[in-house]
Parts: sequence; C-alpha cells; structure tokens
Amino acid sequence: MSDAPEISPEAVDAAVAAALDAITAAGTTGDLKTARAAHGGEGSTLAQLNAQLRSVPNERKAEFGKLVGQARGRVAQALAAREEELAAAETAARLEAERVDITALASHARVGARHPLTLLQDQIGDIFVGMGWEIAEGPELEHEWFNFDALNFDVDHPARQMQDTFFVDPVDRHLVLRTHTSPVQVRSMLERDLPIYVICPGRVYRTDEFDATHLPVFSQFEGLVIDKGITMAHLKGTLDHVARQLFGPEAKTRFRANFFPFTEPSAELDLWHPTFKGGARWIEWGGCGMVNPNVLRAAGIDPEEYSGFAFGMGIERTLMFRSDVKDMRDMAEGDVRFSEQFGMVV
Ligand code: DAH
Repeated sequence: MSDAPEISPEAVDAAVAAALDAITAAGTTGDLKTARAAHGGEGSTLAQLNAQLRSVPNERKAEFGKLVGQARGRVAQALAAREEELAAAETAARLEAERVDITALASHARVGARHPLTLLQDQIGDIFVGMGWEIAEGPELEHEWFNFDALNFDVDHPARQMQDTFFVDPVDRHLVLRTHTSPVQVRSMLERDLPIYVICPGRVYRTDEFDATHLPVFSQFEGLVIDKGITMAHLKGTLDHVARQLFGPEAKTRFRANFFPFTEPSAELDLWHPTFKGGARWIEWGGCGMVNPNVLRAAGIDPEEYSGFAFGMGIERTLMFRSDVKDMRDMAEGDVRFSEQFGMVV
C-alpha cells in the first residue's frame, strides 16, 4: 500500500468526492457495480485510508476513525440510493418496452363463419343420426348406371332428359355429374349389410338457370330404409318427425300422388310450414315413395323378403323457407356477411 494517500481530512474528502462523482455518473446498474468496486470495495481509496488507522497515533485514532467511518457511510448511502434509482428506471423502461395495449383493436384477420348450408346439412344429419341412422356418401362424378339405370330409368325414358344432365366427355365413358343424391341409394344397397337406414346429404348438378330459385350446383339429402315389413306409414312417420325437428312442433307433411321411376307408389312431398313469413302454408319440399322392386333387384335384394322407402329433398330450398332467404344466389356467393347472419357456430 505504498501508493496509498496519507490519511488526512483532505484525503478522505477527496476520496468521498471521487466516489460521489462516479456514483452520480453511473447510468446503468452495470456502471454502478463498477463504481461500487472502485469506491466502496476492498481495494478502494477509502478502504485503504481505513487500513491506515492502525498507524495513526492513539490520541487521534477516534477523530480519524470517525472521519473515515462517516465517509464510508456517505458513500454506502449514495450507492444504495443510486442503485434504487437505476433499478426503478430500468424496470420502468422494460415495462414500457413490453407494453401491450389491451384496448387496441385485435388482429385484422377476420374470423370466418360456417356456411348456413353446411350448418343445416349437419343439423339434418344429426336428426337422423339421433334416430340411429348412418350417413352415407357417394361420388359427385357418377356413372350413368348408378344415376339412372339402376334407379329404373329406362334408356329412352323421358325422365332421363327431365333432369337436365351434365354429361361428361368422352360421352362413351357414361359419366355424369350426378343429378340427384338417389344414386347413393344404390351404392348403399350394394355396399352395406341389411337392414339399411341411411341419410345421404351431398351436392348435385343440373343444367339449370342461375336465378333466385335455381342453382346449377345445389344440395340434396336422400333417405333410404330397407328392412323387413317397411310400409308407407313408416315413411310418413319419419318425415313428420323430421319436419317437426326442423320447423317446430306444428309442422307436418302430406303426400300427393306422383311418378318417380325408382319408387312405387311415389309421392310428391309437401311440408306444412307453421312459421312461414307471411303466414303458415304448404310448401313443395321433395319426393318420396316405396323403393321400386326393380331397384331392389338391381342391387341384389329380394323384394319378396325386403321392402323400403326413400325420399329426397333440396337443402337450399329447405334453408330458403326455414330462414326466409329470398334469393338462392346469396347461398352461392360466399360473402361472409351472409353467413354471419346465421350465427358463428363452429
Ligand atoms: N331424386 C329425386 C329428384 O332429385 C327426388 C326423390 C324423389 C328422391 C323420390 C327419392 C324419392 O328418394 O323416393 O328429383
């Protein structure tokens, strides 16, 4: 310690002044650590002056001891005060940097909405699954045999033209965009074990106009039951139940005699819509009937042993009455503002 300053009030004051300068100049807790090591630590000038107390004559020991002790106290106090200041400033800066404005608008990416047709299709599926039925599917690009022949449409039968069919090139491959969901009946009979209780929702295609009540691409749901002892009363009871589930407890159905090649007898199906805007009324809903024995035979089922019923309805039409949609084109346009009106069910 040969280069240590001689202990004196001036030397102590100078050491305190140097320490306070360094402490004030420290701009970060890191700087302050350096200042503490230099001015408050073991090797600091004040520590060295303190060590020299040993060589101070006894009668002056108290005086110098007090001087150095007070000096060290002041430096320690200044260090503590500055440390508090710097820590507070650093915390404030960090909080500012990490600040999140919880009142700000959330992301600009808009949450979409499920399409009302999808929602209704799921809801219809649920009604049938609730009765223990299964959901069946088939391809939209269908073989003419499934779409027409197996359903008992004669080659020259006007019904084949009645449904304005999109035939797919090359024509000799006999592929069509299915004109109805009825071919799934045939596929279900060929693929499944008896008895059969299936609902087949899906998209169908016809060369129709694109206007308020027609879409060239639309959707249907087809029902098929094949079991022993099935009668038209089962068909009626099933349809009345579905009508009530979809249109309320007052809803019901009625049959009007009609012709379809795949059912015998066949009926046009009307729905009593109790809450129709503008007053309760009958609405044409779809077609139905008892599965024609020729269709059962085409699928390898013995019509002497089994009988069945079938029905088919349009989902767009169902949505139109049910939710008072005036123009079907709104269902095809994919504008989320239309979908949002039906709720944000996910
Ligand atoms: N496939 C018919 C159509 O699209 C609707 C239909 C009528 C389906 C009678 C059926 C039925 O299952 O039995 O016009």
